[in-house]
Amino acid sequence: MALITGGSRGIGKAIAMAYAREGAKVFICARKRGVLRKAAEEIRAAGGEVRWYAADISKANAVRRLVRQVCRAYGTIHILVNNAGTLGPREPIIHYPVPAWEKVVKANLTAVFLVTREALGVMARQKEGVIINLSSGVGRIGKARWGAYAAAKFGVEGLTQVVAEEVKEWNIRVNAVNPGGTRTEMRAAAYPDEEPMTLPTPEEIAPIFVYLASDESREISGKSFDARGWRKI
Ligand SMILES: NC(=O)c1ccc[n+]([C@@H]2O[C@H](COP(=O)([O-])OP(=O)(O)OC[C@H]3O[C@@H](n4cnc5c(N)ncnc54)[C@H](OP(=O)(O)O)[C@@H]3O)[C@@H](O)[C@H]2O)c1
Repeated sequence: MALITGGSRGIGKAIAMAYAREGAKVFICARKRGVLRKAAEEIRAAGGEVRWYAADISKANAVRRLVRQVCRAYGTIHILVNNAGTLGPREPIIHYPVPAWEKVVKANLTAVFLVTREALGVMARQKEGVIINLSSGVGRIGKARWGAYAAAKFGVEGLTQVVAEEVKEWNIRVNAVNPGGTRTEMRAAAYPDEEPMTLPTPEEIAPIFVYLASDESREISGKSFDARGWRKI
């Protein structure tokens, strides 16, 4: 059973579809109900088992309700993909608006902490689990005008290592993946002048997420991967 945040479109939807094709029961969340419902219909039409719930995961109460819904639907969480994210303004720090900073850090970092914390309660009891966090190139090397987004993604890389060490004894592994430039709404907003057809689709970068959720990667935890060009050894 896999919970994928931000599973309504882009990379999250492709991961949900790939997991469903592998036979996993999937649960997707995002804020916009209509887009979520449509994604769930597509996954079902492809033969997948899927449920969905609309939640703003930057809010602790909403995350508690979300995880309660997942447990009510499936009774467990084996795989958590912390995929939801938001870009925020492309402004230099000197002009970066304070409310936007708080919103972007909450959605990209605090939300990962909140969902991980709730899911760990379930995974620790069953002594089994996989967590995959979506990182970014600017979460490893900072770049001008990436502001709160980059700072939050550095945080996601750090949080991945912290949690990986803490949960070793419970047979839970935690890794981070930088998808690299991928043909999605977020990428188009970040690079409006770029030709989208030059980028890989979310479906093309999905294989690493299947690998990291599978038994084949059971020895791997606390590591950072790049989805772009990834091949199974
Ligand atoms: N695309 C790229 O080139 C690229 C590169 C590096 C890293 N990434 C990372 O990869 C992940 C997926 O990116 P993407 O390009 O697929 O983005 P996207 O197309 O913008 O999709 C983002 C998803 O997250 C959801 N979301 C955003 N804020 C949320 C919140 N507060 N609560 C719940 N759901 C929320 C969105 O749905 P709602 O708007 O309905 O909430 C949507 O389902 C992100 O973490 C991103 O930072 C992407």
